[in-house]
Amino acid sequence: MFVSTEQPVAATSGRARAALITGITGQDGSYLAELLLSRGYHVHGLVRRSSTFNTERIDAIYQDPHEHDPRLRLHYGDLSDATGLRRIITAVAPDEIYTLAAQSHVKVSFQQPEYTADVIATGTLRLLEAVRDYQESGRRVRLYQAGSSEMFGGSPPPQSEQTRFTPRSPYAVAKVAAHGFAVNYREAYGLFIANGILFNHESPRRGETFVTRKVTRAVGRIKLGLQDKLYLGTLDARRDWGFAGDYVEAMWLMLQAGQPDDYVIATGRSHSVRELVELAFAHAGLDWQEHVALDPRYLRPTEVEHLCGDASKARERLGWRPRIGFEELVRMMVDHDLRLAEQELTLRRAGYAPPRLLEPTHA
Ligand code: NAP
Ligand code: GDD
Repeated sequence: MFVSTEQPVAATSGRARAALITGITGQDGSYLAELLLSRGYHVHGLVRRSSTFNTERIDAIYQDPHEHDPRLRLHYGDLSDATGLRRIITAVAPDEIYTLAAQSHVKVSFQQPEYTADVIATGTLRLLEAVRDYQESGRRVRLYQAGSSEMFGGSPPPQSEQTRFTPRSPYAVAKVAAHGFAVNYREAYGLFIANGILFNHESPRRGETFVTRKVTRAVGRIKLGLQDKLYLGTLDARRDWGFAGDYVEAMWLMLQAGQPDDYVIATGRSHSVRELVELAFAHAGLDWQEHVALDPRYLRPTEVEHLCGDASKARERLGWRPRIGFEELVRMMVDHDLRLAEQELTLRRAGYAPPRLLEPTHA
């Protein structure tokens, strides 16, 4: 059984709370790090080694540890490396852990199912095992597990905490497994683990191969004459799109609650990819039909047709509600990507060619 402390962990110890974020270099990790820093936390981020720097989203909040005593610190680590995870948890002594790291692209999970399952399902298990041992040494820690509306897959909307999981991709199957591990470790070892079941959330920091950002990046480039066509898979799928900045607030609220629980986080409204495209192109004064073409290589072997969440539980128990709606979100992203395209044009005119956006299409 979980034993409630009623107070947020470490609130009584007098020291600033420490949080560990896996996936800090991703969209959500960067917004969450900003939120936690603004609330006085010491933030530790797990960064995986890559041949090029992958810290662009957190560059604005990172301070050189040689010159400052920063409240944001980064640690090399990977969800495939259990020993490293244990070592970091022991060194950081976190009060809260947010497990956001994932191979998070649904289409890519069909091309790399084994890797996706290893990072998402077994990776979560590795982290839970490390936390279990850490807690047995006498420390208390609260953990957020990043679940997904993809877990609902083929179950019709509106989807709530009571809706059956019917996953339709290797990504979603792996997320269902991670969710199951989290529930089991909560019940078996009394760990404070909250599962967020988040519907799609976007921002100007969204990865450029997810459909919202793929569309808004293309709108910016087409408007400035840097590109002519945008190739998409389907226009019919419907998603419940919210703003990532609102959704990381929900993650934090889940870890401040008296009891650990599972929560759907969504806006309660869905739109088709076609509506997204129409709105984004119109905001830039463009006719989408002149530029959008379909390419079956972007279709998934099994599609999730319609996600639309019922977040009543989070509203009633956490007091959470989204602030930014779909139209404002799309306008924000288009405006950002118009500025980015202007910068690209300036660089090109100065003789510098920025990296091309190349999305692998072949399995
Ligand atoms: P994202 O932008 O793709 O970020 C994923 C993060 O995970 C990145 O920091 C990435 O590092 C890191 N990562 C990937 N593989 C790793 C590994 N083996 N070891 C350590 N780190 C690894 O994803 P996001 O949109 O921020 O989403 C955050 C989490 O929420 C994910 O678990 C995602 O599945 C889940 N989720 C997202 C949404 C959504 O709509 N955004 C909805 C529901 C659930 P690099 O920067 O080096 O690639
Ligand atoms: N990426 C992409 N590229 N999607 C396209 C395209 C295309 O060219 N054309 C149509 N789509 C459709 C997809 O088939 C899907 O129905 C919808 O647009 C949204 O696709 P994504 O933006 O890739 O997101 P997702 O819904 O598959 O997954 C995202 O949301 C999940 C939560 O529901 C990811 O962030 C997951 O990590 C997250 O769990």
